[in-house]
Amino acid sequence: MQRILLDTDPGVDDAQAILMATAHAGSQVEAIFTVGGNVGIEHTTRNALTIVEAIGQDIPVFAGCESALVFEGEDAAWVHGNDGLGDANLVPQSRQVETEFAPTALLRMVTAEPDAFTLVAIGPLTNIALALRMDPTLPSKIKRFVVMGGAVTARGNTSNVAAEFNIFADPEAAHVVFEAWGKAGKLIELVDWEATVRYGIPFEKVAEWRALGTKRSTFFDTVSNRSFDRPSLTEGRTKMFAADPLALAVVIEPDCVTHAEDRFVMVETGGTYSRGQTVVDWDSRLKQEPNARIILKVKAERFFQLFEDGLK
Ligand code: BDR
Ligand code: CA
Repeated sequence: MQRILLDTDPGVDDAQAILMATAHAGSQVEAIFTVGGNVGIEHTTRNALTIVEAIGQDIPVFAGCESALVFEGEDAAWVHGNDGLGDANLVPQSRQVETEFAPTALLRMVTAEPDAFTLVAIGPLTNIALALRMDPTLPSKIKRFVVMGGAVTARGNTSNVAAEFNIFADPEAAHVVFEAWGKAGKLIELVDWEATVRYGIPFEKVAEWRALGTKRSTFFDTVSNRSFDRPSLTEGRTKMFAADPLALAVVIEPDCVTHAEDRFVMVETGGTYSRGQTVVDWDSRLKQEPNARIILKVKAERFFQLFEDGLK
């Protein structure tokens, strides 16, 4: 059983990822930590509560950092809607956020049960960086750490074209996290934006999923409406990009990865054009031990099936 602690900024594809993970028989999401990112923390926390209520699972939600460690980054409301869930105006009816601060709750859980949890970060890395500063032994207490972030050959998806959103939203936090995992001699399993584009989901398949008629598929259809119907997001595309679900597929079924390479990854915090870039030492010029396992190929059909299973 994969016991998952999920750090997230829901976010439409975060919601899709939660649907997938919570439907998987071999996985258990035991806590959700929210962070500001796609939209502000008040929205991401409310959305996390809305999602767990919609799927009917009693997963505790802890609110974390509202802003980046040092500088305020750009948000992604133009993709996810001003409310973060496609401007669908969803609110939780009864679910309440826990009182404990997310980084504190994370440390409490992994300290009580070292090596028991897979930590998954599908938002900016602010909470994880803060937890690391509170307890530098964090990497040694975690079984696996999977991150959706980065663009490993600098084809990003932000106004800093080399940078991917989750890293660009808080480059200092990402730097702290990548450096700490390297120093601890552990590997971050990295699912980057370029893999997301390679494994885009054909819109025809998505149309079938929207029409499944289950409670989960109706929720999927409602929150994802902008991704399907908004020309500025879909123009020229034949596929839906699902970054966070791809990361969760790697989490819940590690066997769906067919090719990965271990490399040393640095996060650029300066530079007019390069801030937020994940710089990969592809040819091991620096003779540094790898700190990341970069996921390069997955079984596409298996990924699509896991996504669909999350909607049933
Ligand atoms: C990442 O950025 C966010 O907008 C998505 O939720 C995903 O986590 C993709 O770059
Ligand atoms: Ca996200």
